[in-house]
Formats: sequence, C-alpha cells, structure tokens
Amino acid sequence: EKTRQMKILCIGAGYVGGPTMAVIASQCPDIKVTVVDINPERIARWNSERLPIYEPGLDEVVRSARGRNLFFSTDIEAGIRESDMIFVSVNTPTKMFGTGAGMAADLQYWEKTARQIRECSNTPKIIVEKSTLPVKTAQAMKRIFDAGNHKTRFTVLSNPEFLAEGTAVNDLKHPDRVLIGSDTSPAGIRARESLVDIYARWVDRDRILTTNIWSSELSKLVANAFLAQRISSVNAISALCEKTDADIAEVTRAVGMDSRLGSKFLNASVGFGGSCFKKDILNLVYLCRYYGLNEVADYWEGVIRINEYQKERFVVNMLGNMFHTLSGKRICLLGFAFKAHTGDTRESPGIYIAKRLMEERAKLVVTDPEALENARFELQGVEGDVCYTEDPYAATDGCDAVALMTEWPQYAALDFDRIFRSMAQPAFIFDGRNILDHAKLYTIGFNVFPIGKPALTHFHDEPSIGG
Ligand code: UDX
Ligand code: UDX
Ligand code: ADP
Repeated sequence: EKTRQMKILCIGAGYVGGPTMAVIASQCPDIKVTVVDINPERIARWNSERLPIYEPGLDEVVRSARGRNLFFSTDIEAGIRESDMIFVSVNTPTKMFGTGAGMAADLQYWEKTARQIRECSNTPKIIVEKSTLPVKTAQAMKRIFDAGNHKTRFTVLSNPEFLAEGTAVNDLKHPDRVLIGSDTSPAGIRARESLVDIYARWVDRDRILTTNIWSSELSKLVANAFLAQRISSVNAISALCEKTDADIAEVTRAVGMDSRLGSKFLNASVGFGGSCFKKDILNLVYLCRYYGLNEVADYWEGVIRINEYQKERFVVNMLGNMFHTLSGKRICLLGFAFKAHTGDTRESPGIYIAKRLMEERAKLVVTDPEALENARFELQGVEGDVCYTEDPYAATDGCDAVALMTEWPQYAALDFDRIFRSMAQPAFIFDGRNILDHAKLYTIGFNVFPIGKPALTHFHDEPSIGG
C-alpha cells in the first residue's frame, strides 16, 4: 500500500514564505507544498513568469517544482483542511496604535490566522511559527487553539527563519543552522521530529538544533539584534574616523582579524535597513521594558539610535559640503533597495535620505536595477520633485551630486569619466557604501565623500582632509 503523501501548507506568500516553501518543495518531491495568501495579486504573480519578489536563483527553484508538488493558491480554508503541517509566515509589522505603539509587534494578523486554522481543522495539525514573533507567542497561540470545543489537536513549533534577502535561496539550501523549538510533551517531541526529518533531507543533522520554544523565539530576535549591533558599532566608529585621520576600512580589517570577533558584517554604511533589524530590536526593547529591565532596553535601543544618527549624519554631511544649500540642486540616489541583490525597499536608508533631501528642496532622481517599483511606493505622497529611471547614466545626467545608497556591484563598474562629464560642476559623490574607487574618482575630478574615511576634495583653500 502506498503511504499517504505528506501535505504542507504555508500561510503568507512573502519574502520568507515563498522562497522557503520553494526550497522545501524542490528538496522533497514527495511532499505536497501549498502556499496561500489573502492577496490574490501576489498569488497570481507566484503563478506567473514574473515572480513577486526578486531573489537570485529563485526563478529556477520555483520553475523546477511549481505544478509538480509546489502550488500557490488563494484558497486558505481548503489548504488548512488538507494539510498535516502549517507554516505561518504572515507579516508581523510594528504595532502603530495603543499600548506598545511603535514598539511591540502587531499580532492581529497572526491571531486571525490562528483562529482561522482552528475553525477549519478536522485532523491533527502541526503549526510552525515562521514569522519572527515576540517571545511567548507560541504559548498564546496554543491557548487560542485549545480554547472552545475544538475538533482536533494542535501542536505548536517555533522554527525561525534566518535567511537574508539577496542570498535567500543559498541560505535555505545551505543554512548555518536550523532551529526548532518545541515543548517537551510526547506530542511536542513527535512534532519536532517530523520537522527535523524534513530538513534532514538536505541539512546535516548536527546543524539542526532543537531547543525549548522560548529559546527558539528569543534566538531569532537576539541574532538580528547582534547583527544590527555590529553595524551600529562600526557606523559609530565611522563618525569618529571622519573627525580624525583614521580610515574605517583599515580599522575594521585590523579588528576583524581577531578570530573572536570575525571579519564578516563589518562594512560601514549609510545605515542598515530591511524589514527585520529595527522591528526585531524594537520587539526586544519592548519585551525588556515589559519585564522592568530598563537598562537592558536602553542598551539595545542605542543600536537603533545610532542607525538613525548615521542616516541624518549623511544628509548633514551632504548639505554642509555642498555650500549649505541643496535647494533646486539635482541629486541622484544611486540605488534604493535596502541592500544589493534585492528589490526590497522596506526600511531602506534611501527612504529617509530621500525625504530629508526633498525637505531641503533638492530635485531627486532615483535609480535602481530592481527596486524602482517599490521606491515609487515608498515615496508616494511625499512632497517634492522626484523622478525615477533605471538607467544610471540617464539618472546622473545633469546632477550636482550622486549619493550611492545601495552596494549593487554594477555601480562600482560604471563609467565615471562619462558620468563626470555629464554632471554640473563642481561634481560631488557621496559613497554611502564605500564600494567605489575613491582615489580614481578624485583623479577624474569628483569631490569624494566616503563613510569613515578622509574626504577627497579639489577645494584647496581649506584642508582637503576631514570633510
Ligand atoms: C537579516 C539577517 O541577516 C537574517 O539572518 C534575518 O533572517 C533577516 O534579517 P536581511 O535584512 O535580509 O537579513 O539582510 P542583511 O544582509 O542582514 O542586511 C541588513 C542591512 O544591514 C542591510 O541594509 C545591509 O546593507 C546592512 N549592512 C549589512 C551593513 O550596513 N553593513 C554590513 O556589513 C552588513
Ligand atoms: C583583553 C583582550 O582580550 C586582549 O586582546 C587585549 O590585548 C587586552 O584585553 P584580557 O583582559 O587579558 O584581554 O582578557 P579577556 O580574555 O579579553 O577577558 C576580559 C574579561 O572578559 C575577563 O574578565 C573575562 O572573564 C571576561 N569575559 C570574556 C567574559 O565575561 N565572557 C566571555 O565570553 C569572554
Ligand atoms: P515576510 O518578509 O515576513 O515574508 P511579507 O510582508 O513579505 O513578510 O509577507 C507576508 C505575507 O502574508 C503577505 O503576502 C500578506 O499578504 C500575507 N498575509 C497577511 N495576513 C494574512 C492572512 N491572514 N492570511 C493569509 N495571508 C496573509
């Protein structure tokens, strides 16, 4: 007799749910994987040739499994009914009202989903938290599932996702670790083992960690808080470098060679962005305050404060060096995604910079190879003069300044001789990611302002070092 096919459902077809399920489906051809979403346009795009998110390698993975054992649908209830395991990957934005506004996670989508799962289920289900959630959400969910005259049994697991955008497919195929939290009841252990067995198809078992559910939930917040903290640490020091003759790249190289610290994730920048870092730290801060740990909360809040400071510092630096007026000047934002290799603009530093430059009445030209659609969305309704073009040469034409926001490798390879000749003079370049060849730009004729390094200017009436 043929064993019954296992059926997995994922609720939420976003940046996490879509790629994660595509990889599970491609690694486990015998499992039926369905991804549902309340947004029919999103689902239509997952079923089309143009996926709703840009992620290197994702097209191939989706194409290999879609229609075979990977399905995208809007029928959430049918999906719930037939599934054995349900991943919940709906968005958990920061709450914008009431208690915890601007800090706590808004759990209304998660709770609605939990109630919907409860109402539609007739067979036992394993519920997997995939969205980043505040610690103890799983417990709250369990209470919702167990309340009322439920027809079946639910077991809740926490399985936070550590993928980074731009490398999602690779991160999913070769994760540093997979983390699964469960309670220690026999049902909890059994559920955990069935999820371990899925990942073990392509991940070494010693990279699959099992913990209690709260450790699992907290680890995700802490991992993101530590990563963001590293960037704020480097960015804070970049400000000091600009006041001295130190060079942030030399400093981070020397520091990163200490094996206790490691050399990754030490690039100074205009600030970190993305949907996770700020939100997760705010969550952590809220949790600490809730438990009366105000010193701990203040400590982590500092990571966000430095990030805001770094973005503002960038604008102040532009203004000061461009003779204290940007009014009517054309400025090109080179890149708008929050990092390279993604079209995502959520919390992108470009948003803040664009708004501030428009406040100064600059005329903006935004360019990005993948994120223009999202850039338009982010800046809709903002008062000011802004236009969008995909061609970086058209975008920089006639500009007074170029501000590099995103570390797209193709931007380092642009013909800056050509760009310089097409710009207003004196021409300024502010490298918010330190990816350009600053000495070469200076030789071409640009006034160059990197992050955490001496400025290179052609104004010889004052010292050219220090900005
Ligand atoms: C992050 C975590 O890395 C990932 O594990 C988690 O699952 C989700 O949050 P993501 O936001 O996709 O992933 O991208 P990440 O590569 O972490 O970059 C976040 C921000 O930090 C970007 O704006 C990036 O440009 C910036 N950054 C990163 C720096 O400014 N300097 C660095 O050295 C590294
Ligand atoms: C430190 C630096 O490590 C060294 O590179 C520098 O040259 C001098 O300062 P040291 O103070 O000798 O060296 O010891 P270190 O091993 O860094 O420990 C410093 C303190 O941190 C100790 O009290 C140690 O117990 C504590 N520590 C270290 C922790 O509490 N937790 C840890 O994980 C590591
Ligand atoms: P993430 O980066 O965490 O994946 P996204 O915003 O990209 O977040 O994706 C979350 C998805 O969840 C969105 O496509 C949204 O439409 C979907 N979603 C939100 N609430 C529900 C719900 N109650 N049922 C189904 N899908 C939902």
